[in-house]
Amino acid sequence: MEDVRIKDKTFTPYIGEADLQHRIKTLARELNEVYLDKHPLLVPVLNGAFLFTADLIREMNTGPEVHFIRVSSYGNEMTSSGNMKVPLGLETEIRGRHVIIVEDIVDSGYTCDYLMDYFQSFEPASVIIITLLYKPASHKGKYKPDYVCFEIPPEFVVGYGLDYAQHGRELRGIYRLKA
Ligand code: IMP
Ligand code: MG
Repeated sequence: MEDVRIKDKTFTPYIGEADLQHRIKTLARELNEVYLDKHPLLVPVLNGAFLFTADLIREMNTGPEVHFIRVSSYGNEMTSSGNMKVPLGLETEIRGRHVIIVEDIVDSGYTCDYLMDYFQSFEPASVIIITLLYKPASHKGKYKPDYVCFEIPPEFVVGYGLDYAQHGRELRGIYRLKA
């Protein structure tokens, strides 16, 4: 893997494709055991979680349903704006379901807090958060993610669904901002 240039910034390889795929397979195996016969409802948060979700569900054998939602984004900046919109696109019954919120990355944790409270208000059978990446040093929220593929330092990353100013989502690995 080589450095990539996105707009005004340079990003350097951080987590390779093989490591991502291997970790996602082991996570799917864990979820397959926990959600055996439960037909979980996966709720991935657009846009960042689309590749993670695509790879994860192809390793799941619990008959998952998938309903993508969208909340507010970072815009084109590299820090959280903090203002959260109502999730868009959720038109399915939540009550009594086993909900798995799927995030690309948990940073401040405010998005997760908002979504956890939102989903709990519909009385699901259970609700958890899974995330590809987690920055524990940046976390300020109430809820920690229940399953994490990789803990990372509080640095800005792109690739495998994550963007910098809407670019870099197509990269097969994760890259971090070069100092
Ligand atoms: P939080 O509410 O601060 O936890 O932010 C969550 C959202 O911010 C994620 O779903 C991402 O869309 C975005 N985000 C946070 N850190 C990064 C990063 O390092 N790269 C790209 N997007 C990020
Ligand atoms: Mg996101």
